[in-house]
Amino acid sequence: MTGARAPAGEFRDAFGRAPEVVARAPGRVEFIGNHTDYNGGTVLGGSIDRSVRVALALRTDGLRRFRSDRSDQFVELRAADGGKVSGGGSWVNYALGVLDSMRDFGVRAPGGFDFLATSDLPIGAGLSSSAAMELASGLAFLGATGQSLPRESLVGLCKQAENRFVGVPCGILDQAVSGFGRKDHLVLIDCRGPRFSTVPLPPGAHFWIFNTHTKHELVDGLYAARHRECMEAARALGVGLLADIGPAELARRMAASPVPHAERARHVVEEIARVDAAVAALKAGDLAATGPLLTASHRSSQSLFGNSTPELDFLVDALSAMPHVFGARLTGGGFGGAVMALTGPGFDAAMAEIPAGAFEKKFGARPDVLHLLTADGAEIVNRPM
Ligand code: GLA
Repeated sequence: MTGARAPAGEFRDAFGRAPEVVARAPGRVEFIGNHTDYNGGTVLGGSIDRSVRVALALRTDGLRRFRSDRSDQFVELRAADGGKVSGGGSWVNYALGVLDSMRDFGVRAPGGFDFLATSDLPIGAGLSSSAAMELASGLAFLGATGQSLPRESLVGLCKQAENRFVGVPCGILDQAVSGFGRKDHLVLIDCRGPRFSTVPLPPGAHFWIFNTHTKHELVDGLYAARHRECMEAARALGVGLLADIGPAELARRMAASPVPHAERARHVVEEIARVDAAVAALKAGDLAATGPLLTASHRSSQSLFGNSTPELDFLVDALSAMPHVFGARLTGGGFGGAVMALTGPGFDAAMAEIPAGAFEKKFGARPDVLHLLTADGAEIVNRPM
C-alpha cells in the first residue's frame, strides 16, 4: 500500500487541501510474555517496520470527516455526536476512543477535522493495528492543536480508549510497544508500574510472521474470559495479581489444595519467568538460548492457556524443525492470528515457503508471510504546512 508512505498526497486527493500534521505509529510483535500484561507481569515486544499513518487538518464547522486507504467511503460525524460507529466505518472507533479519553488526561480534543488513515500493517494478524491507529490518532490530534503529552500519558490514554470506548479489556503491551519502540531494540514493560525500558536486540535477529487469516469468531469474548479466569485464580490464591506469586510457590499451593483455573495461572506465572530468562539471554547476545523460550511459551499457550489453534500449532511445529529458526510462537492474544518466528539471517523467502506451502496443503489457504525488522516508535512525521 503506497499510501502508508505518502499520506499527504492522498489527503489532498480526498479533502482537496494539505494536511496540517502527519503522525505515524508502528505495529508490534509480542516477542514473549503472553497474557502477562494485565496480570501485572513483564512482557517484551518489538515495534515493527509496518505502521499506520494519520494525516489531519482541523475544520471550523464541527464536522469530523474520516477516510481510510481501504475504502472510498467517508465516515462523517459531528463533534457533538457520542457513541460508537458500527458496520464498515467501525475502524474510526479507535480514533473516537482517543478523543473520548483526552479530557481525562488534561488535554483538549479538537472539534471538527478531516482525517485520513493509511496503513501497510495487516489487520487481524495479531500485529496491533488498533493500537497503532490509536497512537497515530492521538499524536495527530495533539499535534494539530499544539498540545503534547509525556509518552507514558499518551500510552495510558490510548489504552484507556481501547478499554473504555472500544470495550476490549487489553493490557498495556500494544500501546506501550508502539509508543516506546526503538529500532534494533525490544521494549521491556514491567506492567505493574508500569515501567518501560528497552533491551538491545542482538545483531542478526530477524522476524518472520505467518498470518493464518484465521480468527476465532468469539475472540473478544475469549480474551475477556481469560482475563476473568486469571483474576479469579489470583483472588483464590490470595494475591492481588498473578504476578505476585512465583512458579515454586504456585506449585506448592496447587499441590496443597485445588486452585480454580490452575492451568491459566500456571501459564501466566511461568511465562513471566520465561520473560526474565529471555531478557537475560538477550543481554548476553544469545539468540540460540532465547529461541527455545519462545517455543516453550507457545507450548504453554497450547496446553495450559488454551489460546492456540491447530493452525498456529502446525506452523510452530513446522518452523521449529527448520534450520536458522531459533524459536516460534503465536504472537498477540491468540485464538487465531499469526505465528512469529525468530530467525537468523540465513532464513529466507524460499525457506519460508516450506511451512507456508505445507500449511496451504493441509488447511487449503495460504498464510501471508512477512519479513519484519524493528523500527522506531510512534512520532509526528511532519507538519506539511
Ligand atoms: C493482546 C492484548 C495485549 C496482551 C496480548 C496477550 O494483544 O491487546 O494487551 O494482553 O493480547 O499477551
